[in-house]
Amino acid sequence: MTRENLIAQALQMREMAYAPYSRFRVGAALEAEDGTVYTGCNVENAAYGCCICAERTALVKAVSEGRRRFVRLAVAGDSADFCWPCGSCRQMLREFSPDLVVDVVNRAGEFSTVSLSDLLPHSFGPDTLE
Ligand code: THU
Repeated sequence: MTRENLIAQALQMREMAYAPYSRFRVGAALEAEDGTVYTGCNVENAAYGCCICAERTALVKAVSEGRRRFVRLAVAGDSADFCWPCGSCRQMLREFSPDLVVDVVNRAGEFSTVSLSDLLPHSFGPDTLE
């Protein structure tokens, strides 16, 4: 899977966002170690606390289908700035892949590449509990 292809899938998923409250659409595409790609969008709710981000939608789809190791994530938002994953998504992703490569994409489809360990330094994870 090329970076460009993964980003294209995230941009495509942004169209599926259910975001009537924030009107901020987000799409994500998460590539598992075996090459399978899981996509997700943000899904909001009238009870605001029930909203889920695009990245976590993709992650729970993947984990619920038996994938636990991931190599790359593309996340495409609706702003001029890149779509930086929220803190909860960073922590959820870190549980499975602390060294994940993350492509953050803006409204125009431009992107920047960062590592999850840079986004969430000195993180708490499964190894901490051992
Ligand atoms: N959102 C995401 O989907 N991913 C993020 O990392 C940041 C925020 C969504 C949640 C909510 O539906 C909307 O963007 C505004 O916060």
